[in-house]
Amino acid sequence: MTITDKMRSLPVPPGNFGLPVIGETLSFLRDPNFIQRRQQQHGNIYKTHVFGRPTVVMIGAEANRFLFSNENRYFSDGVSASAPRHVKLLMGTGAIVMQTGDKHLQQRKLLAQAFQPRSLAGYINTMAATTCNYLDKWEHTGNLNWYDELRKYTLDVACKLLIGIEANNDFGKLYENWGQGLLSIPLPLPGTKFSKALRCRKLLLAKIEAIILERQQQSTTKQDVLGLLLQARDEEGHGLSLQELKEQLLTLLFAGHDTLSSSLTALCLLLAQYPQVKEAIFAEQKQLGLEQPLTLDLLKQMTYLEQALKEVLRLYSPASGPRKAIESCEFNGYLIPEGWQVFYHPAATHQDSSIFTQPERFDPERFAPPRAEDKQKSMSYIPFGGGVRECIGREFAKLEMKLFAALLVRNYNWELVPGQNLNMVMLPTPHPRDGLKVKFWRRG
Ligand code: HEM
Repeated sequence: MTITDKMRSLPVPPGNFGLPVIGETLSFLRDPNFIQRRQQQHGNIYKTHVFGRPTVVMIGAEANRFLFSNENRYFSDGVSASAPRHVKLLMGTGAIVMQTGDKHLQQRKLLAQAFQPRSLAGYINTMAATTCNYLDKWEHTGNLNWYDELRKYTLDVACKLLIGIEANNDFGKLYENWGQGLLSIPLPLPGTKFSKALRCRKLLLAKIEAIILERQQQSTTKQDVLGLLLQARDEEGHGLSLQELKEQLLTLLFAGHDTLSSSLTALCLLLAQYPQVKEAIFAEQKQLGLEQPLTLDLLKQMTYLEQALKEVLRLYSPASGPRKAIESCEFNGYLIPEGWQVFYHPAATHQDSSIFTQPERFDPERFAPPRAEDKQKSMSYIPFGGGVRECIGREFAKLEMKLFAALLVRNYNWELVPGQNLNMVMLPTPHPRDGLKVKFWRRG
């Protein structure tokens, strides 16, 4: 038998394609437990039909290892292969998430220079000052719809640290309209969300270009991502062109903003639901000194907080990435046909009870030795993805989460407003339906 004959004899994974044309897209978008429900019905690998394409969902450490170690061989490694046309138009061909192969690696190496530990140390003061301003504002407000506020906060930090500007209303509105276009039905008619988003993308890129050009005239280097990317060079001494730089900065804003808003919202929700964990974080802060300035060194010593944040990202992993099978292949006795879309799924992977004891529980201690549950099997804990597309902003995100959590728990307390809907809405990234309503006050 040739390989092709053997492949042909394999079954495709079990599952349903749903309705003609739209397949199971509506349930996929509306039901926060769609992935897990189908997993209960069909197992760790199943087929469905979403966003106009036959799709295989692959869950678990083995599936992740198979997927990430076969990128560029069996699977395309970019959004470009599987994203709908309107997403491609709105992201632009210069965005790192749209690039593949050597070009992707070259751009990744350049961008990574702004996210090394040395670079992160330079971001702490701005992050801490911005965080303190928001905490102070929230204390005065008293009652918050926290998700909305956290979106403003993360956009503010991102604008300051990525492109060195304040997130004023004008920039924020353009950015919001552009982001909404990515989730819209793409009708290229005047007045639709999509056409508005295209216009906003142009205006955003023009604004970012003006910022870059102004920066290039200045003699001093600013401690932010743009400052470092202007100096970044690859082995051949090439840097990013103006076009590349502006598209990549817009992509970084996008990739970092909603993910962090979602994760911080999950942190605030879980600490309200598990006050004993909040108090254990406070005890660690007290022991390290509540007035101690936050340095990279001090943050490293916050081991319990680190575990709590890992646990937040285990339970509420906000991101994943699509792939496309570029060659038919076999996994666990099933055929994954060429041309099909493939999804891996961090949140469902993190519910494996053979790895995580009582996986539904919020239990930061699971990451402490001797349990160290995430270390038992490679690719069983993947909130930041894996392989060639692993999150570039991972350390930036971890730093912002830790710094935010330390300043928050050191000085403030909060409780959930009763009677609100805490069911998760999945778009743009997971958050409670009512936006997490809390009463917020300074610790007595
Ligand atoms: C808690 C926060 C975050 C989470 C959970 C997260 C998660 C992820 C995941 C799962 C991927 C892989 C997508 C794939 O497989 O296709 C990814 C990619 C990426 N992330 Fe993040 N991310 C976070 C924050 C950030 C931040 C703050 C930035 C930048 C400032 C960032 C920039 C990126 C970029 C540029 C990529 C694409 C990398 C590539 O295509 O090579 N992320 N992220």
